[in-house]
Amino acid sequence: MAIKTIIEPFRIKTVEPLRVTTRQEREAVLKKAGYNLFSVRAEEVLIDLLTDSGTSAMSARQWAGLIDGDESYAGARSFYRFEQVVKELTGFKHIIPTHQGRAAEKILFEIMGGKGKVIPNNTHFDTTRANIEVSGAEAADLPVKEALIPSLVKDFKGNMDITALERLLREKGPEHIPLVMMTVTNNSCAGQPVSMGCIRRVSDLCRSYKIPFFIDACRFAENAWFIKTREPGCKGRSVKQLAQEMFSYADGCTMSGKKDGLVNIGGFLAMNDDELAQKARNILIVTEGFPTYGGLAGRDLEAFAQGLEEVVDEDYLKYRIRSTAYVVEKLDALGVPVFKPAGGHAVYLDAKAFLPHVPPQQYPGHALACALYLEGGIRACEIGSVMFGKTDPATGEFQPAMLEMVRLAIPRRVYTQSHMDYVVECVGEVFAQRDKIPGMRIAWEPPILRHFTARFEPLG
Ligand code: F0G
Repeated sequence: MAIKTIIEPFRIKTVEPLRVTTRQEREAVLKKAGYNLFSVRAEEVLIDLLTDSGTSAMSARQWAGLIDGDESYAGARSFYRFEQVVKELTGFKHIIPTHQGRAAEKILFEIMGGKGKVIPNNTHFDTTRANIEVSGAEAADLPVKEALIPSLVKDFKGNMDITALERLLREKGPEHIPLVMMTVTNNSCAGQPVSMGCIRRVSDLCRSYKIPFFIDACRFAENAWFIKTREPGCKGRSVKQLAQEMFSYADGCTMSGKKDGLVNIGGFLAMNDDELAQKARNILIVTEGFPTYGGLAGRDLEAFAQGLEEVVDEDYLKYRIRSTAYVVEKLDALGVPVFKPAGGHAVYLDAKAFLPHVPPQQYPGHALACALYLEGGIRACEIGSVMFGKTDPATGEFQPAMLEMVRLAIPRRVYTQSHMDYVVECVGEVFAQRDKIPGMRIAWEPPILRHFTARFEPLG
């Protein structure tokens, strides 16, 4: 009989102990944190699924790279290695290192954003949206309609609605649309992938309107794996070739290395346009650092370059994507409403269906995330009306997010199958007692990105 188990294609060299807490302790922790999991100390978390960002375990070669890093201010060897790896992967002419993804976004939108402009995306991530809005421009989300039906099993639910993009281009006029973005995979739509066909069509459309097309490339390797395994005609090609093709349709990209760069810090901005690159480097020098290190140390660039080479390894990607699907399948079998099909970096619970008695204005996703922490010390992240909902300042009317989700993001190469079995059991237990979970109200909130620091109170 053929062996079917897909194993973690690595072994463990360094371990980090986890601290088990009691329910009573967790109740006190949550209260003290204002029921905001971002305010909980990591030591008080058992399985931390808050994010897959900056939480990867580095390989022995990456750690070796930290020692080998060249810390010269200008022209460091580590920069040239990094630049060469990124150029080979993306084909872009200018590679501008930043300390993380949002720093690349800040620079890009400071130049290209501004009042009266609209920047479409399949779905903007929160920092992308915030950087666009801070520039005075408007961020438009154009996901395909299927993305909004969590139970619908369909390939490439991360795609952009191209008809809606065409309409926007016609209505606003290209002079008001400085660039079009595409986020791969689509984090705010459950980590669903974008097809090569969709990337190509958006690229063609942008070229016909002479509008630059940029990829938010955080999870490019996971997206390329989905293309390889799901899109007709792609099986025989390597993930690296498919990633290169994805980038070939774009004029530039923003990247957070904290995801598919397999590093704990790092990012870059890349583009072909010389004039744009010049402007970007001017801002970089003022805000991040000299162009051959940006916001990073030489050692970070070394580990980042190595990570980008490791992430396209297909044994790794096969294990990575399978480990997410494994959790989705187990939860689905328990009847837990989970976003389907499984995405790349995370499992998304459909909080609206999980807690039908909690209306959006009582933040069902947030209530569920708190319940998971109380049950098993699991830290997850709400992606719903706390993150994306708004209250109209004029009318006081509440506008909910498109979806109410709880994201269980899976750090890369960190947790084993038994950790995930524990997570499945905890979610199952919370599901069995879902009727008892109360909604939440916001007791205090800051003016932007409120999910990071708002304080909450359970209702009833
Ligand atoms: N774009 C996407 C699609 C992201 O998911 C993130 C970060 C960023 C940009 C910004 O990158 O954190 O390096 O500044 N996402 C993390 C998350 C925070 O938890 O999904 P960054």
